[in-house]
Amino acid sequence: MTIKVARTAGFCFGVRRAVETVEKLITEKEPARRIYTLGKLIHNPHVVAKLENAGVAVLEEDTLLEVAVTATEQSPVTIVIRAHGTLRPIMERLSAMAAANPSLAVVDCTCPFVKKIHNIVEKETTPDSVLVVSGNPTHPEVRGIVSYAKGQTVAIPSIEEANLCSFNNKNCLIVAQTTQKLAEWNKCQLFFKNYCTNAKFFDTICIATENRQSEADQLSKEVDLMVVIGGRESSNTRALYTVARRNLANTVLIEDASELDPDLVRGAQIIGITAGASTPGDIIEEVEKTMSEIIESTENFASMLEGSLKTLNTGDIVKGVITSISSTEVHVDLSANVTGIIPAEELAGSDFKVGDEIEAFVVRVSDIEGVAGLSRKRIERIGDWKKVVEAAESGEILEGKVTEVIKGGVMLAIGAVKVFVPASQTGVPKDGDMKALVGTTQKCTIMEISEGRNRAVASIKTVLRKERKEAIAKFWETLEVGQTFTGTVKSLTSYGAFVDLGGVDGMVHITELSWSRLKNPAEVVSVGDTLTVFVKSFDAEKKRISLGHKTEATNPWNIFTSTYAVGDVASVKVVNLTPFGAFAEIVPEVDGLIHISQLAEKRVGAPSDVVSVGDVVDAKIIGIDEEKQKVSLSIRALTEDVEVEDEAEDAE
Ligand code: F3S
Repeated sequence: MTIKVARTAGFCFGVRRAVETVEKLITEKEPARRIYTLGKLIHNPHVVAKLENAGVAVLEEDTLLEVAVTATEQSPVTIVIRAHGTLRPIMERLSAMAAANPSLAVVDCTCPFVKKIHNIVEKETTPDSVLVVSGNPTHPEVRGIVSYAKGQTVAIPSIEEANLCSFNNKNCLIVAQTTQKLAEWNKCQLFFKNYCTNAKFFDTICIATENRQSEADQLSKEVDLMVVIGGRESSNTRALYTVARRNLANTVLIEDASELDPDLVRGAQIIGITAGASTPGDIIEEVEKTMSEIIESTENFASMLEGSLKTLNTGDIVKGVITSISSTEVHVDLSANVTGIIPAEELAGSDFKVGDEIEAFVVRVSDIEGVAGLSRKRIERIGDWKKVVEAAESGEILEGKVTEVIKGGVMLAIGAVKVFVPASQTGVPKDGDMKALVGTTQKCTIMEISEGRNRAVASIKTVLRKERKEAIAKFWETLEVGQTFTGTVKSLTSYGAFVDLGGVDGMVHITELSWSRLKNPAEVVSVGDTLTVFVKSFDAEKKRISLGHKTEATNPWNIFTSTYAVGDVASVKVVNLTPFGAFAEIVPEVDGLIHISQLAEKRVGAPSDVVSVGDVVDAKIIGIDEEKQKVSLSIRALTEDVEVEDEAEDAE
């Protein structure tokens, strides 16, 4: 920390002259002499109190003459006119009294710069002129100045108030209070230049004031705390405060060191000090000394803390014991008198409890408060990022959750680290909907990392491809003849259907699709159909699998023979007529022949005389040729059976 004291801080020439004069009077006075100042000698309560202790009393204007007349040889009186000066009538009256009474002394400490204004006003004003004083109308200096005017007077603290006055374009004489703010005086001049054609300006701002304000202006731009020392009644002190505060909000006005706020001092790196013209040097020194002590103690504390913190710096990973858990913070004892604070939400859902040791990342260290801001999330992120970096090198497969779809891909959260998966690496087909991935857990490999920026690019597709490859290898390893699958028809050719068995295709020959003779596989299956197939044979090297679909259980001849026997009567459907008989379907894919001689009891000229295609008739199975898989049917046999039954009944 640095303290910069304004070169111009403290007593101005006029104030120093007045104070030194009074101090000399005190030192040299005969015991009976009473010393008075007309008003407080300067606007500084410390100096005024000091003078009072030395026997210097303060007189107001209304009691001045009463005291002056009490001056006698036994009790002489000295009246000191302060640097601000006083009203002309008072000065004249006092001078006259002093001339007439040797026991009354009047010591005029009016500052020569103020005196100069009195002279200007006395010389330049006329009964028809208007004296305008840019300054505070109630200030003793301004009241004194206007008392020297011969005509109309007006004192305006700010140009806004000038707007309210009427000057009737008279001869205007414009002067400034010695401590007026420069900016205000400039505005005042501008106003009267435009307003009065006969305005006469006298720049009477004291050079000490000008320098002091300029320095305060400059200094307040260079520091981060500006301390203005001076009495609050002092107009030049208030002017300094206003000038500095315009540049720096962190500007304070204090009367002495006791008003210093240590926290403000500790919080600053460069401190500027200036002081009003009536601020004694010892008060400035005291303030500076107090500041140095605060700074020293702060720096000691900081170095002590630094010592105790040893290796504790932002970015460190530390271990500590949880001492309390509230809804907002988790406190961690890091030993060395430092408390670590983790935002409670970072541990939400975790099992940590008071007394547990926890590892955390140091995000901030406050030397002043002895606390360190910690983050658990950051440490998790560090650990997860480390995993990502290692996986990029080793090719290890990581698992993450897809959190969102962004432009060009998706984001995958691997623990506390988010990695980018380009659309082409998501495994979603081009023009597919990546939104379907959101919320799902996916495996990925890390394709690329940017360590400096903590960014990584991952691929889900590589894992899917790898997994598929492994599954296919396993498929071939475990494939057996006779193994059944439920697959999906992927494509059809004239000679069969290709079926996806789960990443590997097999072929069902057209003859294996159905027990009936097919011209094209499309007669029984379509692309996309689910088909139960079994492995007839395979060549693992050539990656060929021959599949079968039709089975003995679905063989129509087997179904027929297991259902019917010779002598049974079946309901059959006439499917074809020939000159020698009619073919009729007994079960799907198994037809039987009803010879023309078996169509009816009497002789039939043509089968169509008795049956038509599509007729469903009862017929008796009169013969089964297992070898040729042929069935003979008879309608006539049914009639003969009835007759035999009838004859039997008659015989009974
Ligand atoms: Fe005189 Fe200027 Fe000081 S007018 S009293 S030197 S501020």
